[in-house]
Amino acid sequence: MTGDESSAATVAGLSVPQKASLCLGSDYWHTAGVSEFGIEPVMLSDGPHGLRKQPQPGEAPGLYGSVPATCFPTASALASSWDPALAREVGAALGLEARAQGVAVVLAPKINLKRSPLCGRNFESLSEDPFLAGRMAAAIVSGLQSQDVGGCVNHFAANNQETDRMRVSADADERTLREIYLPAFEHVVTAARPWLVMCAYNKVNGTYTSQHRWLLTEVLRGEWGFDGLVVSDWGAVHDRVAALIAGLDLEMPPNLGVSDRAIADAVAAGDLAEEVLDQAAGRVIGLVRRARRRRPATVDVTAHHELARRAAAQSMVLLKNDGVLPLAGAHGRTVAVIGELARTPAFQAGGAPVSPTRVDVPLEELTTALRPATVRFAAGYTLGGAATRSQAELTQEAVQAAAGADVAVVFLGLPPGAETEGFDRTSIDLPAAQTGLLAGLARAVPDTPLVAVLCNGAAVATTWDHHASAVLECWLAGQAMGAAVADVLTGLVSPSGRLAETIPVRLADCPSYLNFPGEQGRVRYGEGVFVGYRGYDAADLPVAYPFGHGLTYTSFSYRDLRIAQAGSADAGDLTITVHCVVGNTGSRSGREVVQVYVGDPAAAVARPPQELKGFAKISLEPGAEREVTIGLTARDLSYWSAAHRRWVLEPGEFRIAVGASSRDIRLAQTIIVAGSPPALPLTASSTLTEWLADPAGGPALRAASGTGPFAGILTSDELVRDLGPFPLPVLAVFGLGITPEQVSELLAAIPAPPGAPGPGPAPRPDADISG
Ligand code: BGC
Repeated sequence: MTGDESSAATVAGLSVPQKASLCLGSDYWHTAGVSEFGIEPVMLSDGPHGLRKQPQPGEAPGLYGSVPATCFPTASALASSWDPALAREVGAALGLEARAQGVAVVLAPKINLKRSPLCGRNFESLSEDPFLAGRMAAAIVSGLQSQDVGGCVNHFAANNQETDRMRVSADADERTLREIYLPAFEHVVTAARPWLVMCAYNKVNGTYTSQHRWLLTEVLRGEWGFDGLVVSDWGAVHDRVAALIAGLDLEMPPNLGVSDRAIADAVAAGDLAEEVLDQAAGRVIGLVRRARRRRPATVDVTAHHELARRAAAQSMVLLKNDGVLPLAGAHGRTVAVIGELARTPAFQAGGAPVSPTRVDVPLEELTTALRPATVRFAAGYTLGGAATRSQAELTQEAVQAAAGADVAVVFLGLPPGAETEGFDRTSIDLPAAQTGLLAGLARAVPDTPLVAVLCNGAAVATTWDHHASAVLECWLAGQAMGAAVADVLTGLVSPSGRLAETIPVRLADCPSYLNFPGEQGRVRYGEGVFVGYRGYDAADLPVAYPFGHGLTYTSFSYRDLRIAQAGSADAGDLTITVHCVVGNTGSRSGREVVQVYVGDPAAAVARPPQELKGFAKISLEPGAEREVTIGLTARDLSYWSAAHRRWVLEPGEFRIAVGASSRDIRLAQTIIVAGSPPALPLTASSTLTEWLADPAGGPALRAASGTGPFAGILTSDELVRDLGPFPLPVLAVFGLGITPEQVSELLAAIPAPPGAPGPGPAPRPDADISG
């Protein structure tokens, strides 16, 4: 008997109330058990960057306390490693900690795209790019599940802001959803088979995602083959029966006495087919069975801290360096370490904080790592709370510490509470006290090079970076950030992170700027597919630091781009293989992230100039070279056609570019992909031009015209040009030789337009938004 069959057999013996109870949790963190049938409850706990297991089963949600766990780098950091193997290791370590705590499912990873740098949960999200987010998320899930602990990708879908997140409607057209907001989910579901998917709080095109049948059933299960359990975000269910019918299996936390009764009443009234309930209850039992494979474990806390340190170091992005880095500790040298964040590190943000097993303090770690150099510290600013000294006094102290030092390392970043679940930021600026401090130091100690070290979960403006000789973006890099930053600054580890999100020059440049965070219950995704670098590139805007950027302590050469095609677009088995040779031309070992971008310069729809479709992170010793091979598929060249309701690959030219960042393209070639152009599906409003272009419609129209006057029109280029934009039924009433009856016959012979209803239209302005 398969797992599904045995779950179904168990369900067959259950009563409606028992099945209803399974579709609700039993408390804040547990599913319900049915002891007579040997079904035990299982525990779900928060991630994503560390286990947040609350100590007592069912403890009230208001308590933030959780058992100690390793706080790994947050998602914006880990994604910047561009290293799926590392993400898998972190996922496996998280899974092991869950095993040790008897937790069956970790609510991770969060894979919503960074539509705006203002989103309060960007620190927990992976990227502005769906390809990178999908690859990193799949690695995290496969690591977690290698421990027989379930992954739960969230929040499905289009949860890209915190403002009004419990009910806002994300209004996006289907192409935007298919190309930007869904592919990371699609990749994780198809490649890593997560045990669970969590819906979001928000609506998509007017329907709560918890009740969105197109999302939860048609796309997730029907198209992607998801075979796991759909759980609500905590409190996202509004109508339990409607949610069940749409495909939401488990409500968390349970609305006990209300949702279970609603389900039982709906079955009794015939409003809910019992098979729907059976299926959802069966999936909960399936989860319980999967969780039974989990074996107890013990955690090597030190080894996990070391992994957190390695992951943090690999995630840091060296934005700028005039050669001041790496720092070397040497007798007689003096290093000023400035900034309260060096003493009070920022390594995770609000929402669901992890209780770290220990915390490395950058100031202490640097002091040790730089020995025998002298380290002088000044706080330079406060992180809120009661100030005992004025900012002028703090700046003066910092100037004194930096005066005469060989270098000053200035820690800058966002204060506690600036980024958190539940709120969006309103600005991307660092606190004025910090930027003022940096400018003050640059003025007062011009002979001391300044190294800025950034600690923030989402992009911050870097308009101050001309004051700094080097800028290292650490993100919120977890509990071992302090040791990791010392590793990178001193050169023990060569930086190898790359930006997973663009750092804009100005907030107003962001593609979503005019449509974020929406108003009156709606947010219009007006920039469409032009999210992140896709938008900056299309508008040809300068950015502070581009997507994919990151320096190392060495340099790399690229040569010999070769692109091979196999299969064919028409047969649907086209593959493209991109080869090039990358060499380390510097004097230190280092890691390069080779990035492949695809562009379709002439397309029937507006497409981003380039899109990431492949990458590889490689290590090279000085002088070494390596051939890199990256595969592409037809889908990587395609766009989602609203007219065809499917992915469409238009034959013709494509630009394949290989680079060290989206704006540091080293090699590029134009290739020609052969194939038949996709015909637009003909409808009652198709124009004469569209009929003539259609491989079946054109000949049918010509045949219907016979040798009459309309056939004569079709032989004149000039007339076809002038009449081409007219829909055929309109021409039929012009008395040009084709009759309305002939057009009706032609229309009757064409196939029905493709596809079932999509994600729903953007709601009418006067539609009910209360949900
Ligand atoms: C968050 C989820 C989280 C859940 C349980 C919700 O408010 O959106 O990400 O998993 O709470 O803590």
